[in-house]
Amino acid sequence: MLRAAVIVGVVAVLASVSSAAPVLEGRMTDSSSFDPPTQVHLALGDTAGASMVVSWITTNASAGHVYYGTSKDKLNTRVEQLADAERYTFQSTYGEHYVSGLIHHAKIPNLAPLTKYYYRCGADGFGYSDVFSFTTPPVVGTSKFIFSVIGDLGQTANSSSTIEHIKSDPTTNLTVIVGDLSYADSAERTTPTRNCTQRRWDSWGELVEHVFANQPLMTLPGNHEIEQEGPPPATQEKFLAYQKRFRMPWKESGATNGNLYYSFEVGPVHFIMLNSYMDFDKGSQQYEWLLQDLKKVDRSVTPWLFASMHAPWYNSNVFHHNEPEETGMRAAMEDIMFKHNVDAIFSGHVHAYERMFPVYKNKTNPEAPTYLNIGDAGNREGPAYLYFPQPKWSAYREPAFGHGRVEIFNATHAHWTWHKNLNSEATVSDDVWLVRNAAIPSSPYKHGLTPLFGRTFDGFAPYKSF
Ligand SMILES: *[C@@H]1O[C@H](CO)[C@@H](O)[C@H](O)[C@H]1NC(C)=O
Ligand SMILES: *[C@@H]1O[C@H](CO)[C@@H](O)[C@H](O)[C@H]1NC(C)=O
Ligand SMILES: *[C@@H]1O[C@H](CO)[C@@H](O)[C@H](O)[C@H]1NC(C)=O
Ligand SMILES: *[C@@H]1O[C@H](CO)[C@@H](O)[C@H](O)[C@H]1NC(C)=O
Ligand SMILES: *[C@@H]1O[C@H](CO)[C@@H](O)[C@H](O)[C@H]1NC(C)=O
Ligand SMILES: *[C@@H]1O[C@H](CO)[C@@H](O)[C@H](O)[C@H]1NC(C)=O
Ligand SMILES: [Fe+2]
Repeated sequence: MLRAAVIVGVVAVLASVSSAAPVLEGRMTDSSSFDPPTQVHLALGDTAGASMVVSWITTNASAGHVYYGTSKDKLNTRVEQLADAERYTFQSTYGEHYVSGLIHHAKIPNLAPLTKYYYRCGADGFGYSDVFSFTTPPVVGTSKFIFSVIGDLGQTANSSSTIEHIKSDPTTNLTVIVGDLSYADSAERTTPTRNCTQRRWDSWGELVEHVFANQPLMTLPGNHEIEQEGPPPATQEKFLAYQKRFRMPWKESGATNGNLYYSFEVGPVHFIMLNSYMDFDKGSQQYEWLLQDLKKVDRSVTPWLFASMHAPWYNSNVFHHNEPEETGMRAAMEDIMFKHNVDAIFSGHVHAYERMFPVYKNKTNPEAPTYLNIGDAGNREGPAYLYFPQPKWSAYREPAFGHGRVEIFNATHAHWTWHKNLNSEATVSDDVWLVRNAAIPSSPYKHGLTPLFGRTFDGFAPYKSF
């Protein structure tokens, strides 16, 4: 009740702010101390799924902590925020000098696996969030795990439909987003020039709270997170909002560039998150970190090895085809991904669904990673509907909004399904069994997934070839 009333208040405040004046975001009220959390969201707090980071924003409440427990009525354990809450400022090219609300992160430690926890965040004297809940992942080394995958979300009715679909599946308790989150950088674009409008991050935070305050969202940066829109005095620091608003386990996974790249483990999976929009060549910090991370994966503990980056290495759509971040990163990193037997690689950027057969150096290869493009979560730019003739390595492609789901059954079998927003969540529009050759003694292959069989579909005809 109170929350709803306060949101109406914020809209009124925003409407009266001119674009050149400082914009102080967050929830405001005429009662000076009432300042409860907004934009609450979760992320795994370490590389082993045994802690959870809660992030939220207040207008001016510098204190912050989380009360949590395994019963809704007994939130009797308290943990303080990780550091002082911080604001960031952003100068746009069109004159808006934005000052963010205070961004808080707190880490709930020592969680039991596969347990439902309840929590609320906030601070005494300022007010608390609603009570949210999450279910912790299984311990690393156990065999079963289920998660959702989305990309290029944005904040349209279609974006909402995607996350409602995810919310309606009670079996998935973690979502991976492969970049392009809020589209704040081009929210009010009237020319081809980017036009960063930071308050669109706040509206996105409000939009996704009801889902991602109740399950962790593991993020990586896409091109829309760069937010370097023009020369000074516009803000020059790349990925500023993305770095400040989220808190991924980068330190815990030995990385040194904030949320830009990192890895985490849950149940039977080691998951690597990369950044297409920084140096990825051999010798770069990102490449050397990746190599070390690949080397330390113990497949007897986490048999499944997944990687993810925003810009796809394989895709047959005309949109965003063969951009330097795609061909360049692939040229730099495809060999080590192949050598270390990465099972599947998820990406987005192209706003359409496409599933590839295992492919290596442009040729189908049963020992190579399987590529899945899932940049179809519903952003304002609409589906990407123009294709080149379907290459041999492309198994299924269709320009419709939706999301992916991975269900890992054991060390050999996982099931990938694609769910279109236009259908109910239970409807599967494409699926494939991912079967790890290495774990099947009778397989003629040592690496890779399923041999080259399975459904093929070219879901958009007639094709216009270029
Ligand atoms: C924010 O808090 C500080 C100190 O806690 C106080 O000095 C300041 O007046 C507050 N500002 C607003 C807008 O409430
Ligand atoms: C996007 O959402 C609108 C409104 O719900 C719907 O009519 C449209 O079909 C959706 N677009 C796609 C590509 O799913
Ligand atoms: C996900 O969370 C729900 C609700 O707490 C729980 O019933 C379900 O078993 C969990 N699923 C997995 C795979 O952890
Ligand atoms: C950026 O957005 C503002 C506010 O909507 C608008 O006035 C301005 O023309 C836009 N600038 C560009 C370059 O698109
Ligand atoms: C694969 O195809 C891309 C263009 O799609 C090309 O740039 C690259 O050189 C090719 N690589 C190999 C190994 O054939
Ligand atoms: C792994 O799971 C799949 C799918 O449920 C099943 O067919 C297969 O027999 C399982 N393998 C083992 C070793 O349990
Ligand atoms: Fe993108």
